[in-house]
Order: sequence, then C-alpha cells, then structure tokens
Amino acid sequence: MPHPILLVPSNHDVGLTSVCLGLVRALDRHGVHVGFFKPICQGKKNGKAIVADTSTSLIRATTHIDPPEPLNADYVEHLLAEGESDTVTEEIVARFQQASLKNDVVIVEGLVPSSEQVYSVRLNAAIANAIDAEVVIIGDLDKTDLEHTIDDHGIARHAYGSRVIGCILNKIHDDKEEEEAPAVTGILARAGSPDRHKEVFFDLIAKLEQTGMRPLGLIPFRKSFNAPRVKDVSDQLNARIICQGDIEKRRVREIRIAAASIERSSAVFNHGSLVVTSGDRSDVILGAALATLNGVELAGLVLSGDTEPDERIMDLCRQAFTAGLPVLSFPGNTYETARSIFNMDFEIPLGDSERARLVMNSIANFIDTDWIKSLANSKREIRLSPPAFRYQLIAQARSNPQRIVLPEGTEPRILSAAAICAKRGIAKPVLLGNEKNIRTVCDSSNIVLGEGVEIIDIESNIDPYIEPMLELRKSKGMTQDQARDALHDSNVLGTMMMKMDHVDGLVSGAVHSTANTLRPALQLIKTTPGSSLVSSVFFMCLPNQVLVFGDCAVNPNPTAEQLADIAIQSAASAKAFGIPARVAMISYSTGDSGAGVDVEKVARATLLVRERAPGLLVDGPLQYDAATVPSVGEQKASGSPVAGKATVIIFPDLNTGNTTYKAVQRSADVLSIGPMLQGLAKPVNDLSRGATVEDIVFTIALTAIQAQATKGGEGK
Ligand code: ACO
Repeated sequence: MPHPILLVPSNHDVGLTSVCLGLVRALDRHGVHVGFFKPICQGKKNGKAIVADTSTSLIRATTHIDPPEPLNADYVEHLLAEGESDTVTEEIVARFQQASLKNDVVIVEGLVPSSEQVYSVRLNAAIANAIDAEVVIIGDLDKTDLEHTIDDHGIARHAYGSRVIGCILNKIHDDKEEEEAPAVTGILARAGSPDRHKEVFFDLIAKLEQTGMRPLGLIPFRKSFNAPRVKDVSDQLNARIICQGDIEKRRVREIRIAAASIERSSAVFNHGSLVVTSGDRSDVILGAALATLNGVELAGLVLSGDTEPDERIMDLCRQAFTAGLPVLSFPGNTYETARSIFNMDFEIPLGDSERARLVMNSIANFIDTDWIKSLANSKREIRLSPPAFRYQLIAQARSNPQRIVLPEGTEPRILSAAAICAKRGIAKPVLLGNEKNIRTVCDSSNIVLGEGVEIIDIESNIDPYIEPMLELRKSKGMTQDQARDALHDSNVLGTMMMKMDHVDGLVSGAVHSTANTLRPALQLIKTTPGSSLVSSVFFMCLPNQVLVFGDCAVNPNPTAEQLADIAIQSAASAKAFGIPARVAMISYSTGDSGAGVDVEKVARATLLVRERAPGLLVDGPLQYDAATVPSVGEQKASGSPVAGKATVIIFPDLNTGNTTYKAVQRSADVLSIGPMLQGLAKPVNDLSRGATVEDIVFTIALTAIQAQATKGGEGK
C-alpha cells in the first residue's frame, strides 16, 4: 500500500493547490513514484455546475500523473444529506485505490473550507481516517501574523489528532524578490547565515518548533506565483478585447490606476503593470504606447467606461499594439473596473500550465528535503480502515460473483440483502423457500427482488440429496426417512447443495440459532484438511481500524491446543482480508502478573502457537488494554512485538469472546462483520439474529470471497 499524505488548509486562501503541486514535484525529483488525488471536485462554477476540478486538471497538464476523477460535489452533498456518509468514504477509498496503483506516496488534496462546502473539515478528517493518511496542515503568513497562524494550526490539529505530522507555511514575506534559493538539505540548513531571507526562516522554525509543530516547508511569497495572464483577467471580467497583443503571454504583476495628470501618472508605466484608465484618457493611452516603444513591457491597458478611445490616437499607438501591448475595455467606471480586477480569483486557472509549472518547480525548492528523502524510503504499514475494508470486501466479491444459498428465504432482511447483492453484482443469491410465500413477503415489505435472484423450492428439491446424505451419515446410523426429514430443514438442504457443489457458499442464522446453522455444516461439510476444528472470527470495524476477534461464536471451552489452532486460523483469516496479523492471546493477566488455570491455559496456547507458526507475531497472556492501547502495552509488556498494536484478539473462551464482541458492537455502535467460520472445507457463515440488512450483505460478500479462495479463484 502506498503512503497517503493528506494536505489540509488551516484557513482560506492559503494556496493549498500550489503547495500540493510543489510537493508532488519535490517527490518526483527524488525519484519517488508519486500519485495525486483530489477526492471531491472544487472547480470553477459555470452558472451552477462545476466544470472541472482545477487541481486534477493542472496535475494532468503538468505531470505524467493521471489522477482519478474527483466525486461530484452535488452528489456528495446529496449522500451526506441522506445520512450516507459511509457510502461517501467508501467511494473515496475506491478512487484513492486507483491513485495508489504502482505509487509509493499519494498526495491527497483536502477540501478547502467554503461557504458552499461547510462540511469540509469533518469530511477531511473522515477521509484521513478512511485512507489512513498522515496529515500536513497548510497555513500562510500573507494576511495574518505568526501567532494567529499558530492558533489556526492548533485548531486544525485538534480536528486531525495524532495523524498530523507537521505543517507547511506559505506566502512568507521575506523581503526578497524573484530569485530562488537553491534546494537545501533540510529546512534547518537554511538557518545560520546573516542573509535576511534565512533570518526570517530561522525565526519561524524556532517559533513553530516551540509549539510542537514540525515545519515541513516554508515557502516565500512570490509575486510571480500570483501573476495571471492578461487573458485570465479578460476572461474573468468578461472584458471586450480592443487589441489582442500578447494577451496569452503577458502577466499582471501589479494593478495600477492612472487617474491623475499624465505627469503624475507616468509612475504607473512599469514592467508587468496592468494600467486601468478611463477610455477617454488619450494622454494615458499615448503614455502607455510610448513606454512600450521605450522597452517597458507593460502587462496591458484596461480602458474603463463606455467611451470608445479616439481612433486617431489609437492609430498613433498602432506600433505599440503590434509590439504586443494588449488593450481591454470594461463598461464600469475606473473605480469599478479596478475593484473587479482586485477582487478577481488569482488562483491558477485550468489552462495556465506555464504558471502551474513555475509554481510547482519553485515551491518544490522550499519543502524540507530530509522529509522528502524519508518518504522515498518509508515502509509505513497502512492501517486498514473500516471504509477501506468494506470497499475491498465488496470489490473482491464483485470480481467473481459466487452462488450463495440463503436458506431463510422468507425472512425480509434476507430478501432485502439478496436484492442488494444481485443488483450490485456482489453474489448470485439463491433463496430457499416457497416462491409464492417469498413473493408475498416481498410485496408486504416493499422489496423488489429484481433479476439475478434465484428461488429454489424446498419440497420439490429434497429427493436428489437423500442418497448423498445417507452416504455421508451412514456411519452414524442415519436411515432414509431420517435423511428425508432432515432435508426438510432448509439449512440442511442448503448445506447438502453446497456439499454437492450446486452452490458455493451458505449464509444463515437471521432466524435459526447458531447451533442449528452450524451443526449441519460440521456434520456434512467437515473440516478442511489440516484443520483440527472449526472456529470463527468477527471483523470489528472500529472507528479507525478493523480488528479481528476470535472465537466469539463456536467453541465454548477450547483446550490450550484448540486455542492455539483458533489463533493460527484467525491470523490466516486476518491476512487473507488484508490485515497484518499481530496476535494477542487475551486473559485477565498480562505476562505473569496474575495466576490461575485460565491464565496457564492461555500461556500454554501462546507457546503452542509459537511452536506451530514460528513466523507469526504472537504474545500472551495479555489484558485487552495492554494488547490494544500503545501506552498501556508499553507500560505492562514493554518490548512485546504485539502489545499496544494487536490486530488479532484471541479470547480464552466463548463466554469472554461472545460477551466482549457484543459489548463493543452495541455500546460503541461498531459494525461487526461475521462470525466468519474458519477451518470448514466450504464456506458457511452464521448471522446474528439481530443482524441488519447491511450486516447480511457484508456476510454474503465475505462468504463469496471465501468461496473464491476455496475454488482457487475460479468462478462457477
Ligand atoms: N469443529 C469441528 N467439528 C465440530 C466442532 C468444531 N468446533 N464442534 C462439533 N463438531 C462436530 C462434531 O465432531 C460432530 O461431528 P460428527 O457428528 O460427524 O461426529 C458434529 O460437529 C456435531 O457435534 P455435536 O457435539 O453433536 O455438536 P454440538 O451439539 O456440540 O454443536 C456447536 C456444535 C453447534 C458448534 C456447539 O459447540 C455450539 O452450540 N456452540 C456455541 C454456539 C453459540 O451458541 N454461539 C454463540 C452465539 S453466536 C452469535 O452470537 C453470533
């Protein structure tokens, strides 16, 4: 997984896009495979519709990177209003994954606060969690002083917590003009010389570090970064072009009004000045032309008011126009015209790749090269967030849809889940039950099953499975009548369909007890070769991380040997679903702090895991807090490879496991996916009787993925 870095603004107009461009360039220069992603479109508005995202377009125009298309802001707002923020983060994760392909680092540009997108900080924080990003706060020193900026950073830091790794300050006025400092190794290397530029930076570094904020970039203010082309002024003002000149090339470095006498106005004719004057000021027009012919490259001339310039004067100035002086006309008076230009949006527009390149190349020089180098070599482990986990689950299930039998065919939650799975291509659901009854439930519950959901009648499909079932259970003395009776139970029929390869997996338990769901599978499907028992895990989608809990559903009182097997199976399940396995064997004692038979069982199971799976990171006995809270882990089990960062939590027995998972699920309102059975030769999964439609959809997806793995990835 690549290293995601989310850049978020501490305030308005900090130059977020420019800093993103510069950071992309700095990484590129150091040979880092870098991607870019702007999750939600914040482009220019044409009427009401947003035309294109500026950052994404500029990255495409200036680099080899082709970022994924951002989500449409109206669509996101609609989902947020409907309370579907999970769908928003899952879709963002999906697009982020595209940006991640073959990249080591992905720069993610956060949302800028605006009056239209008031949810920006909340969404930025959710995005940081969803993609497990480090956060860099971007501030500026253009309109405010350092104390205010540090306060802004403090507020931003609270929103993103420990994800914040530092800040980049933009638009620092350092009394220098256009020339650039050479790239240096580390920001601190800038300090120490009497140069004013370095003094300013040194002072800032010291003050920022006092607040605990690591400066990762200090970017000076440069007029050229904010110098639009005369064409951009003309486009934004909707001005009339009197003379084209070098309108696409000339840049506006200052805006000057020529309202006084020509003698006093002569000071406005400077390199890069956009001179605003009334259309009837022939003297100023002549002055601008003269300055041009004397070699002063004015940006252009804007003539205000409805007065057309005198044609004879314009003829006299022809040579200056031919030399490239652009002339625009704007209907407002001089004051209104100048005010409109001052209030223009000075951000880099979509078509100005030249300015985008200048900005990105220059800003790249002011990013801390030590940090950039550390990113080039970083092997950061990415925590799988709940939205990322859910996205992966659905995407993997959809990659090769499996036939999943649902024996509880008249349960409304099962029917809704079947309809969703078929519609989204997550699985090919097979419902067991009487078709008329199923349709009646659908009608009364407003469920449209849609195409792709198969219904198999129980009564008329029992016979083909009687003989095979007898064969499997003859050692237990089963008779034909007993087999026929047993097959009237939809769970048994579904299990036999799976045994005979007529379906790929089974999900039940919304109505049936766990014992009734599991027993047929234990009796007929049996364990996979190499497994001594069947156990289970839950994927607990905590706010920032997915943890694996085992065994909370099957084995009431495992022995130390069985507990070791449960741990090894659970670690394998974690890895199969993209979660790095660090196994904590849970007890009421950490290390040898407590004693008793139960503690000894966990200690022995831990030794057995180490013997049977030498490469696996495992530790125990550990208390839950020592296993999952870094500070407690450090205090109670210092040096443990697992304490404080466990991802797989193994409970000593079913009493503890089942109670804990339900307490976490209900009290913390955590989505818990499972129980997923492990160790069975074919995938069967049990639902909690309190399962929601969402839980069932994810359990079907999980089962489908297990079925893909069982068949070695081949579809039916
Ligand atoms: N692994 C592999 N096979 C097993 C296991 C196991 N863990 N447990 C039982 N079996 C096999 C037996 O070997 C036997 O096979 P056989 O008939 O071919 O000889 C078969 O399953 C049936 O064995 P029984 O002992 O008759 O089954 P039992 O009545 O013990 O049921 C069950 C097994 C259902 C798993 C039982 O242990 C149980 O009820 N566990 C608790 C389930 C529960 O209530 N969980 C909490 C709620 S779940 C939730 O909240 C989501």
